[in-house]
Amino acid sequence: MKIIAINGSHRGTKGYTHFLIEKLFEGAKKEGADREEITLGKLKINICKGCGVCNTEKHLSKCVYEEKDDVAIIFNKMREADIIVYATPIYVFNMSGLMKVFIDRMNATGNSGDFKLSKSGLFFHHISKDICSKPFVTLICHDNFENESSKNVVSYFRTFSKFMDAPQVGTIIRRSGKLTGYGKDPGKEKQYLKILKSYKAIELAGKELVIKGKISKRTEKTASQDIIPVPFFSILKNFTGFKKKILEKLKTE
Ligand SMILES: Cc1cc2nc3c(=O)[nH]c(=O)nc-3n(C[C@H](O)[C@H](O)[C@H](O)COP(=O)(O)O)c2cc1C
Repeated sequence: MKIIAINGSHRGTKGYTHFLIEKLFEGAKKEGADREEITLGKLKINICKGCGVCNTEKHLSKCVYEEKDDVAIIFNKMREADIIVYATPIYVFNMSGLMKVFIDRMNATGNSGDFKLSKSGLFFHHISKDICSKPFVTLICHDNFENESSKNVVSYFRTFSKFMDAPQVGTIIRRSGKLTGYGKDPGKEKQYLKILKSYKAIELAGKELVIKGKISKRTEKTASQDIIPVPFFSILKNFTGFKKKILEKLKTE
């Protein structure tokens, strides 16, 4: 079993996304899986310029950048992987620019003139299944504690799964990163003890990927739990009055 994590953080291995990938990999390692993190921020990834050359007969499915940047190397690694982890921080309610620029380059691997029906019954064009249709996990992190922050990315990868015939085998959302010190501040982790339970669950998720090929709903829930130490926080946070109180508390911290 080989798991590849594509890290879309612009902070690369200094960021929280990397920290969370390492947690997932710790579990996968214990079950004997090969693991590799691909840090997009360290690689050369040109932006698709929509030139359409990859759709011409002469250069079908060949990007003009193929020998000029590192995307072909990443695609080759994806071909060899059993599971891909798309790991991205939230940037202004969406995936990072780096992650989107990378995903856009998948478009050139197919033949957009050759129409097909996806397994979900959606019209789509031919794609390189050995790259695009791999089982995948979405690993998201952000600072805000609102679910709304990551909603677009969760929805995006659901759509990605349907068009690309790529089984989505897990989604982990780690909110409130700043509050918990991004895994680097034991003082903050003492205030928000649930984060340690979440990290354990992310490690367990790595194990489950190797053993069962997917993350259980229970593990996803524990990994993605709210960490604010207030009983029934996930329900109470729907009320504005309660939110105002939390806001006051956060200001004094
Ligand atoms: C440009 C930019 C935009 C961001 N937008 C959001 C946002 O909309 N919502 C949120 O909760 N956090 C947002 N954040 C915070 C990051 O998602 C958060 O710090 C994350 O943990 C960064 O991951 P990294 O350390 O791996 O880069 C933003 C950060 C940056 C740099």
